[in-house]
Amino acid sequence: MNENAPARALIALSDLDRGTLEDLLEAAEGFIASDAATAHRKQLAGEAVALVFCEPSTRTRFSFELAARRLGADVIAFDEPFSSRVKGESLSETFRTLAAMGVRFFVLRHGENGIMRTLTGELPAGTCLISGGEGTHAHPTQGLLDAFTIRLHRPELARLTVAVIGDIVHSRVARSTITALTQLGVDELHLVGPDAFLPAPGELPGTTTTELASGLANADVVIALRIQRERMAAAEFPDPRDYRERYGLSIERIECYAKPDALLLHPGPVNWGVELDAELADWPRSLIREQVRNGVAVRMAVFAWLAEAAHGRG
Ligand code: CP
Repeated sequence: MNENAPARALIALSDLDRGTLEDLLEAAEGFIASDAATAHRKQLAGEAVALVFCEPSTRTRFSFELAARRLGADVIAFDEPFSSRVKGESLSETFRTLAAMGVRFFVLRHGENGIMRTLTGELPAGTCLISGGEGTHAHPTQGLLDAFTIRLHRPELARLTVAVIGDIVHSRVARSTITALTQLGVDELHLVGPDAFLPAPGELPGTTTTELASGLANADVVIALRIQRERMAAAEFPDPRDYRERYGLSIERIECYAKPDALLLHPGPVNWGVELDAELADWPRSLIREQVRNGVAVRMAVFAWLAEAAHGRG
């Protein structure tokens, strides 16, 4: 391990070139294959990983934990309310304290935009920071696993039309998934939702519409998003019945408007009965559970890539 190497980070997919994205997706495919054989490589043997989640999480937190363990790391789950953070210790000092115990990999989820870049500049040399979701800015490993899941089923991304439906403006997932799909050459992006949920003109690639039918037209892949109540004022929260009426997805609506073989994704957690009808949970073309499953392999690939880049291991 090179203790003098500068801290490295995965903060946003826009920091990666297409070749690196493709390398990560290929590495994740390798981990899926080795997962089946329970023959994991041990790129993180002897390393310690701290999971610092300052916002709630199920999928991201536990899949990072499984990924780290499968690569041979020790894992510390940092419990902020019972840490010295409540005595006023800064996150930067917290990371330095954990680094003094030998932690080299930090996975951070935090609600504040910009915190990942600030912290990267303050981390000790030789450490790695991975964003597990940052404000409304980015959720890079979710973007990777979404692109990975789509590519497994529809390898020719350059021929795809992808519709993203719902609360795009508050969604770090949307920003990262759209970045990944754009970098990987997806042909057409439709951004669909009520005006209050659509991005400002020019903020994201793709066409925008408030009409579900035209937004879903010709879609090969439909990505529904969670309404993020925690990131909006109470007055902004749409009436769930109105939302379902205009933008809620059912088997019938997808089959009526999108391509006959269209796939469905949702990053979770789903507000069932609002964004999606419950019948879609086990619909054969719903990839929601598969996204969760693929998250472990994708996060293994990210750990292995950072370990190799930062420490010359692999
Ligand atoms: N998709 C996602 O980030 O889910 P969690 O909040 O459960 O991690």
